[in-house]
This record gives sequence, C-alpha cells and structure tokens, in this order.
Amino acid sequence: MSRGTLIDLLYLVAATTFLLALKGLSSPKRARVGNLTAAVGMLIAIVATFFQHIDGHALYHVPLMLLGMAIGLIVAVPVARFVKMTAMPQLVAIFNGVGGGAAALVSITEFVHIHSTRPATYVALEVMLGVLIGTMSFSGSAVSFLKLQELMTGRPVTYPGQQLLNGVIGVVTVGLIVTILVNGSTALLWVVLGLAFLLGIAFVLPIGGADVPVLISLLNSFTGLAVAASGFTLGSNVLIVAGTLVGASGILLTRMMSAAMGRSLPNILFSAFGSVVTASGDANRADGRSVRSGSPEDVAVLMGFSSRVVIIPGYGLAVAQAQHVLRELADLLEGKGVEVFYAIHPVAGRMPGHMNVLLAEANVPYEQLKEMDEANSELQTADLALVVGANDTVNPAAVDDKASPIYGMPIIHADLAENVIFLKRSMRPGFAGIENELLYNPKTMLVFGDAKDTLTKMVAAVKAG
Ligand code: TAP
Repeated sequence: MSRGTLIDLLYLVAATTFLLALKGLSSPKRARVGNLTAAVGMLIAIVATFFQHIDGHALYHVPLMLLGMAIGLIVAVPVARFVKMTAMPQLVAIFNGVGGGAAALVSITEFVHIHSTRPATYVALEVMLGVLIGTMSFSGSAVSFLKLQELMTGRPVTYPGQQLLNGVIGVVTVGLIVTILVNGSTALLWVVLGLAFLLGIAFVLPIGGADVPVLISLLNSFTGLAVAASGFTLGSNVLIVAGTLVGASGILLTRMMSAAMGRSLPNILFSAFGSVVTASGDANRADGRSVRSGSPEDVAVLMGFSSRVVIIPGYGLAVAQAQHVLRELADLLEGKGVEVFYAIHPVAGRMPGHMNVLLAEANVPYEQLKEMDEANSELQTADLALVVGANDTVNPAAVDDKASPIYGMPIIHADLAENVIFLKRSMRPGFAGIENELLYNPKTMLVFGDAKDTLTKMVAAVKAG
C-alpha cells in the first residue's frame, strides 16, 4: 500500500471516529466516551499529517510545528482542567476563536502562495471565505469571551444606525472580495481582513451576555465552515469532513437552543434582548401581594410528609456549586422512602447540557434525570417541587402572558406540584429580567440564601428529623 493510500485510510478512520463521537455526545451517559473518541480520532489525523508528502517533499518546518503544539498543550491543558463549570462558555468561546483565527491564517498563507503560482479564481474564493468567516469568528469570539468573563458590560451595546452601519460594512466587504477574485490584489486582502475583524465585533456587541452561549454555538459553526474552506484550499479531506461536521452540528445546536428558549435566531441576534429589566425585585408588590418565606427546617418537615419530590435545578445551582449537597439530600430522602427525580429543562443554566454535566459531576444516577416533557407529565402527582436556583425555566408567564418576552418558551410546570419551594438569594429575576408570578403563588414558599448553605441546613434538618 502506498504512503498516500495509508494516510487517506487513517483520515477515513479519523473521520469515522468524529461521527461516532457526535453520536456519543448526544447522550449524557455516553458523552465522556464520545469526547474521548473524538480526541483519539484527532490524534490519528494529526500524526498521519506529519507523514504526508507535499509535491514529493516531506513536511517542512516539523520542529517549528512541534514547538507550536507543545506551547498549545502547555497553555490549554491546565486551563481546561481547572476551569470552573460556570466559566465553561467563555473557555469554549476562546478556544473556538483561536480555531477560527488559525483557519484564517492558513487561508492568508495560501492566498499569498497561490497568488504567485496558480491564480485560480475558485481557490481564491475558498481562501476569501476562510479569511472572512475565520476572522469574524476570531474577533466575535474574543468579544464573547470579554462579555462572559465580565471584562466588559454583558448588556447589549447598541447605538443609532447600528444595523445600517453593519450592513454597509458587510456590503463593502463582499464588494472587495469580488474585486479580489477578479484582480487578485493582495493589498485588498488586508482590507478585507480588517473589515472582517470589525464585522465580528459589530455582530456580537448588540447581543446580551446571557444570549452569548447561543452566539458561541453559531460562531463555532462559522469556525467549522472556515476550516472546511481551508480543507478545500489545502486539498485535505479530513479538514473538509471535520469542518463540515462542526459547521452542521453547530448550526443544529444553535437552532435547538433557540427553540428551547422559545425565540427565533434573528430575535436572539438582532433584538438586543436583556437590555431591559422589568422585574421590581421587591418581595412586596404594589398590588399588595407578597411572597411567603420559610426556613430550611420548614422544608425538611414538608419533605418528611412527601412521597414524591421533584428537584428542578437551574443556573443558581451552578453558581452555588451545590450539586454535591443536593445529591446528598436526594439520597437521604430516598433512604426515607421518598421517590426523588430531577426535571431537566434543555436551557437551564447558561450552556447546553449545563445541568446534566453538573449533576453528573455529583454522580447523580442518569435514571433520576427526566427531560422536560416526561417530567411535566409527572409533576401533577408530585407532592413537592424543589426549585434550586431556577427561575425563567419555571416561569408561567411563558405560557399565559402573551406580552412577556419569554412567551412561547417551553417550561417545567413546577406550579402543578402540590407545594413549590424556591431556593434563591433574593427577589432578583433570572436571566430574562422579568417577574415570576409563581413566586407569589399561595402554594409557593421561598427559602432565601445561597443554595449550598440552604441545602446544607436542609440535609442537617432531614437527618435530625
Ligand atoms: P435563571 O432564570 O437565570 O435564574 C437563576 C436563578 O438562580 C435566579 O433567580 C437567581 O436568583 C438564582 N441564584 C443565583 N445564584 C444563586 C445562588 N448562589 N444560590 C441560590 N440561588 C441563586 O435560570 P434558569 O431557570 O436556569 O434559566 C436559564 C436562563 O438562561 C433561561 O432564560 C435561558 O433561556 C437562558 N439561557 C440559557 C442558555 C443555555 S444553553 N442553558 C443559553 C443562553 C441563555 P437570586 O439572584 O435571587 O439568587
């Protein structure tokens, strides 16, 4: 077998592992194995590439490439190992941005190269797409990182004529790309690079911090497309396959996230959602209604009388890092003969699968996790719904208030349970910035405080009871 055929075979193996990995990642049970499968596939692809011959020559600059990989490993491994779960979206943003930037750099190098040797228009088009999409993904991801890391305001940044200005920059960029395809000007390439960088920033600025995870998924998809474009330019099948898979799965994930938030993608990208907070954050409302608050011990007593408890986790569980003590409480209750399950909303938290990952960290058995629809069908028979740091995902306004910004978002119907307990620190709203009527429902009791502290006290009270 020739060297070329062997390398192609290895690339085929790598591409197959990427497909298997995606399949694995679609279920929390097999996600770790899926991730590992993709990593092995990527290793095979990288090693095979080192044995490739280009125009009859072995690869140039191998020591330099190895040095680059070593630097990447030294920086990325500790960062990935020690990142907090709540900081995962910004880590994904920065890794994704670097990927887009790399694809753009490959395209630029190839452009300078083909410009002197083979000025083929279609190759130039692939290069232009790589530069445009890769650079936008790079600068857009960098701004996403700054927003999520709170190094700049998380609120949408808007100014008069913003969309028009972005449109003009977009049209000028496309015009320049067409000109480059005709005259092959390297000077104009640098202008396109600069405009693409600006476009990436301009695209992300009006998007509110909490919508940024959806945006990152979209930018991730862009990076995939930029990589696929580089794959065409370099004649690398494995890059084309990997880039297309990232592009397709990124766009699917973006659509799924938008649907689970009950919003369209254009609404997320262009409506500057999150710039207005309408909740008063007041326990006593102007209409005279107020909330009922209780202690962790009160909840422990209620739980003692319950035969079915549904735990509804949300973003606050991640903030409090209360997953371990939550599991301890669930185990204790089960030991006392109470049936416990967790109701998982697809966009609870701030990234896809946030609650699954968090609960898996505490070794909560997968059988106890129920997806939204299944959980909703069983909530009517629950004695108690324990809402731990969730808010929007249980807000009935999504169902019965047509004027609400979250109207149409599917929710977990905590209100169907006999009793509803909210663990939160204050009357502050969730990500959508809106009032939650369920807090004022007569069957609801609020236990104010950090979820980890409250749950720790509840564990002590259940043990003592
Ligand atoms: P949210 O509606 O954001 O509510 C979180 C709640 O947690 C708040 O009410 C907050 O109240 C409480 N909290 C925060 N820290 C806490 C702590 N240490 N202890 C106890 N409580 C704490 O959360 P959710 O129900 O999970 O909804 C997620 C929202 O994010 C949805 O609107 C969704 O559309 C959006 N979103 C999700 C994603 C993905 S993919 N998951 C992506 C983008 C946007 P206090 O401040 O009073 O404690």
